[in-house]
Amino acid sequence: MVTIGIVGAGLRGRLFAEALESQPDVTVVGFAEPSTRVAEDAKSATGLPVAGSHTELLEEFNPDAVIVATPDFAHRQVAVDVAEAGKHLLIEKPLATTLDDAYAIAVAVHKGGGRCLVGFENRWNPHALQAKSAIASGSLGEPITASATLSNSYWVPTTMLSWAAKSSPAWFLMPHTLDLVLWLNGRTPVSVSAVGSRGVLAKRGIDTWDVVHALVTFDDGSTATFSSAWTLPDAGDGIVDFRFQVIGTEGSVTADLSHQGLTIVSDKTRSPWPLSGKVGRALVGAPVWMVQDFAAGLVDGSDLGPGVDHGVLITEVICAIEESIATGQTVDLATFRQAAGA
Ligand SMILES: NC(=O)c1ccc[n+]([C@@H]2O[C@H](COP(=O)([O-])OP(=O)(O)OC[C@H]3O[C@@H](n4cnc5c(N)ncnc54)[C@H](O)[C@@H]3O)[C@@H](O)[C@H]2O)c1
Repeated sequence: MVTIGIVGAGLRGRLFAEALESQPDVTVVGFAEPSTRVAEDAKSATGLPVAGSHTELLEEFNPDAVIVATPDFAHRQVAVDVAEAGKHLLIEKPLATTLDDAYAIAVAVHKGGGRCLVGFENRWNPHALQAKSAIASGSLGEPITASATLSNSYWVPTTMLSWAAKSSPAWFLMPHTLDLVLWLNGRTPVSVSAVGSRGVLAKRGIDTWDVVHALVTFDDGSTATFSSAWTLPDAGDGIVDFRFQVIGTEGSVTADLSHQGLTIVSDKTRSPWPLSGKVGRALVGAPVWMVQDFAAGLVDGSDLGPGVDHGVLITEVICAIEESIATGQTVDLATFRQAAGA
């Protein structure tokens, strides 16, 4: 039996607890959650105990593994303490929002010896898996270029996330698209240039980027563009716009994952994400399958990934995006890493 503790009893922490309810040979021992209101909700909805902090969770329940589902900017302390205690880890994306934090987490994971998966959930998305196998089969030739858009309506930064001002479309959304394209094309990014704009969300009280566009160049000269905005209209037909395309020398793959084949709209309803919720008795969807795979991998010892070093790479690229926006220059990743002392 593998025991798992969950740090952060918000949207993701609760989803992961539910996804693991019927997982064989796995027990969720409890949450850690500093907010009394969230802790009470989690306790009454799940019946699981809730510790006040991750250190209490470690002391009281000594789990084999810990899921870090705290806000984007609050992964470091939890992940470092848990990794140094030798526990296995699932850390939500982004691994961290600064180079310092990302490197500290990676050092702790390598030193502690636990296994680690960073929550790039699209690798468990059936559409992305089909794209991956088409590209890997070679039938589309060599990747030439790719583009990916992942944006949210205002509701996400203004209502869903209480900490949006401490994140951004780049930190909350681009980890998904960067991971997806790097995984699909198998290339190594070497330079980044980016632009962004802000002011619209700031007027609504959320002082962060409205929109970020990035151009990434890879080691073989191929390219990819990434766009993320937190400014889609709430009156639209959903909270997510998610599309990607990879163009190869002999073909292309194009995906619109925004609605997954179903759009339901009324004056009162936003279109749901069809690949979520229950099918029969089973909870379905990419994050569900990801956490279940993590747990199954802990039980049977099979490979876990994407791991912490890939998480570091994605954080480096997003830090380089921020640097490029700030300086107006293209950022060479090797020079950027060297300057950071990596
Ligand atoms: N919500 C989504 O759709 C989604 C999707 C993919 C990934 N994620 C990622 O999952 C992570 C969590 O996001 P969320 O949407 O669940 O946020 P959330 O705000 O719903 O939940 C985070 C919880 O962590 C708690 N917390 C803060 N600091 C803590 C600490 N030190 N110890 C324990 N708990 C702490 C907060 O009180 C909050 O209840 C983020 O990194 C986010 O990017 C979220």
